[in-house]
Amino acid sequence: MIRRLMLLSLGLLLFAACSKTSTQSTFNPVADVAAKQLDLLLWVTGAAIVVMVLVQGALVYTIVRFRRKPGDDTLPVQTHGNTRLEIAWTIAPVILLAGLAIPTVSTLWELDKEPPSDALHVRAIAHQWWWEFQYTDHGFVTANELRVPVGRPVSIQLESEDVLHSFWVPKIAGKVDMVPGYVNRLPTFIIDPDSEGTYLGQCAELCGTSHALMRFRVIAHSDADFSDWISGQQMPATVSGRDGVEEGLAVFRGAGACTLCHLVDVTDLETEGSTPRVRKAPNLAHFASRTTLAAGLLDNTSENLEDWLRNPDKLKPDNLMFKEAPVYTNPALALDEQQIAALVTFLRSLD
Ligand code: CUA
Repeated sequence: MIRRLMLLSLGLLLFAACSKTSTQSTFNPVADVAAKQLDLLLWVTGAAIVVMVLVQGALVYTIVRFRRKPGDDTLPVQTHGNTRLEIAWTIAPVILLAGLAIPTVSTLWELDKEPPSDALHVRAIAHQWWWEFQYTDHGFVTANELRVPVGRPVSIQLESEDVLHSFWVPKIAGKVDMVPGYVNRLPTFIIDPDSEGTYLGQCAELCGTSHALMRFRVIAHSDADFSDWISGQQMPATVSGRDGVEEGLAVFRGAGACTLCHLVDVTDLETEGSTPRVRKAPNLAHFASRTTLAAGLLDNTSENLEDWLRNPDKLKPDNLMFKEAPVYTNPALALDEQQIAALVTFLRSLD
């Protein structure tokens, strides 16, 4: 009974991973790169299953056929060497491995092609524990949400500001390591034209305490919506005349010292010839246009933003906002409720 229960729970655990509609399933790709990677995976798995069935079948047959039976007292015939058999089991793996190597190597080549001239270029920089996305073609920077058009090639350059990270959006492409001091590139992908939507990404390399909370989103738009978004992001962040905004701006610049790490300037990105500068925190221009905060951890609502400002370390252990903000007293940022409310009003006005 206990054994059956154990088998059942093991099975449940195993098959829980089988949902095709899961938001991070590699079995339901929406872009060409993930589709090619899936084809290869299925081909290799298929070949491995055939080999397993043949080898295990031969093993079981041998065990049953040649087992010791009652009354068998003499030693079985002892065989040494069988040229035909040895040639066969040398040639069969050679053919099998060639059958696996050809599609593998050709897929590798195919995915390593230079991006075409009409590709959208984005520079993705990993930080502990958030993502910086620089739209180098359009001259602005954003964080934690990678917006791309469907049906058009996208080329992403991968870098890291601190430690090893890995870029992975299971339904689109991945994973590719992000290595400090080295520039990697994700295979240029094209999202299927009918696949507008949001796809979840995740850092796939253990990178510290909050590795599991280093999430991001890829949001795929139609061409028109993407152009609208681009024009919106290129505009300077404006502070509206809404009540409380000025007060929030004062906290942002003063008591909270947010400006030591956060900028509210979309054009703050490195251009050719400029001196690279260390960015410690996401650029908050157009913060209110993002769907989540704290790198995909929370929905971007006023309540969640308040919680975050009260104690970021509780929500994302060890993050720099907690460790480096000069005004904190363990374990919170030491902002009073009035300052938090003002900051929320200010940040939520940055759309
Ligand atoms: Cu970054 Cu794990």
